[in-house]
Amino acid sequence: MCGIVGGIGKCDFRDYVLGGLKKLDYRGYDSAGLAYVKEGKVNLYKTPGTVEALASKVPAFEGAEIAIGHTRWATHGDPSEVNAHPQFSQGRLVYLVHNGVIENFRALKTRLKARGYSFLSQTDTEVIADVLEFHYLTNGKDALKAIRETEIDLEGSYACAIIFEGDEHLYFMKKGSPLLIGVGDKAMYLASDCLPMIKLAKSYVDLSDGDYGCLSPEGLTLYNEGRAVEPVYSERKIDDYDYDLRGYPHFMLKEIEEEPMVLSRLIDNYFDPESGEYLFDPSLLKAMKEADEIIFLACGTSHYASLYGLEFMEFYGKKASSYIASEWAYHPISLSKKPFYVLLSQSGETADLIACQKIINDEGRPNLAIVNVKDSTLSRRATYSCLIYAGLEVAVAATKSYIAQIGLMALLLGALTNSSSPVRHLEKLGEAIEDVIARKEDIHETAKKITGARDAFFVGRGSDYSAALECALKLKEISYIHAEAYAGGEIKHGPIALIEKGTPVFGLISEVDTALPLRNNIEEVKSRGAATYIVSSLSLSSGKDAFVTKDVKPYLNSFLKVVYGQYLAYYVSLEKGLPIDKPRNLAKSVTVE
Ligand code: F6R
Repeated sequence: MCGIVGGIGKCDFRDYVLGGLKKLDYRGYDSAGLAYVKEGKVNLYKTPGTVEALASKVPAFEGAEIAIGHTRWATHGDPSEVNAHPQFSQGRLVYLVHNGVIENFRALKTRLKARGYSFLSQTDTEVIADVLEFHYLTNGKDALKAIRETEIDLEGSYACAIIFEGDEHLYFMKKGSPLLIGVGDKAMYLASDCLPMIKLAKSYVDLSDGDYGCLSPEGLTLYNEGRAVEPVYSERKIDDYDYDLRGYPHFMLKEIEEEPMVLSRLIDNYFDPESGEYLFDPSLLKAMKEADEIIFLACGTSHYASLYGLEFMEFYGKKASSYIASEWAYHPISLSKKPFYVLLSQSGETADLIACQKIINDEGRPNLAIVNVKDSTLSRRATYSCLIYAGLEVAVAATKSYIAQIGLMALLLGALTNSSSPVRHLEKLGEAIEDVIARKEDIHETAKKITGARDAFFVGRGSDYSAALECALKLKEISYIHAEAYAGGEIKHGPIALIEKGTPVFGLISEVDTALPLRNNIEEVKSRGAATYIVSSLSLSSGKDAFVTKDVKPYLNSFLKVVYGQYLAYYVSLEKGLPIDKPRNLAKSVTVE
């Protein structure tokens, strides 16, 4: 959520900042702004809406010495020009962009008001600018001292890039929200992630919580809690490959079609074919074996992936449960004596899950973070961490990361049961996904039939119900069609009242035991006017089914229905002309509660 870009030194800042903000737009935003310093003077441009709208306002500014830019996803105050960042202090000595949430901003505002400050915006960020300015003035314009004192005042999370009018450095501070420094040839950069800098930075410094400091064109000065810190430089963070559409019209389509490759990369990272051994940390496996309950916590798509983890643990003979992180954080009850927690998150930055992890860590309980982003907050704070190696996922709607999360949990099951079978099963799954990819135009044809629908339903039983939940989420988030998932048996207990003539209902059939009752459920809605589409596995299919997926191992069959659902959502959104990769109101990484 929100994106920060900044830099100091010799650089085409207009190109870097506007281009960089564009690269961060996958995070979700509703207003944008930038400030640059030229000949010591700060120039400010902001707008509600898109980076393109901002670009149309901003003139060329060759020769600028410092620049900062921001895409804002509104939390405090509407997405207006006045609330967009950069925010500035009352005396216009401080300009800053901020990601995160200041929890005590009301109390700080009251204190500032008593000191004669008034406010233009509704944001918590303007308060940071004023607190900084206050400390700047009371410390003889010592910017680093002002930042340190401001950090002590602030409660909450922040990643900030800060300009002090008249000062030749670019300042920053970070706690709880990601911020990265990039080292260039004749310039230094900073950004919320490495995307804006990949073509410019030779190495990176991942800032830790409590870090603050300043950049000059020559380098970085870093402090933490008032003490100087030696920066740790690392090499390139991602491949350009991930941030290149490679001829695809949308990242979502590219990412769906990377799923077979992602599965085989996952296997390569966690299984050694020579020795036939899994490459998981033995102490992780030991801790999971010794636990009396495995508790999965996650949000959104990751939560739906965790439902499979739960099922896999039950195959293994372990008691398991799965909770929505934002619920569990307020009711963190476990009756088990030795719980082991599994936290699933593509971004590794989801605030609700970080809140759960704090409770778990405070209790001294072991936890595994399954994440896609290396060194993300969750993975750093976890007892154990496993990367899913899905590669950068740019589209807001999670697709390949979902498949990779489930793939990783299947491999964990293999490691826990000393069986290499899941490796072969996942290889076969990859082939079966290729088969869905090859027949995607059939799904496109179905998508065309439902573009005008107001509501759509996905119905499944057992693991098909977990798949149905994910299919419904995909459809609603990118096509804006109201979509719900129901367990087949529940249809008669209420939802059937919603069926009207032509309401699309998708029946998912992957399990032999539930195939017949599910077909009966679909017949029941069909006889009440629904337009029904059955997506079945080959061995359970009938000639009239809308789409048939290859047979893989029974416990993996229902994922192919999710790949169907991903394509369906993609094509409906395409037919409706919607912004597929960046649906309204959504953000890729949900860093606020
Ligand atoms: C849906 C989607 C979201 C995320 C959720 C959790 O396509 O992407 O529902 O799954 O916000 O995000 P992570 O996995 O980053 O914790």
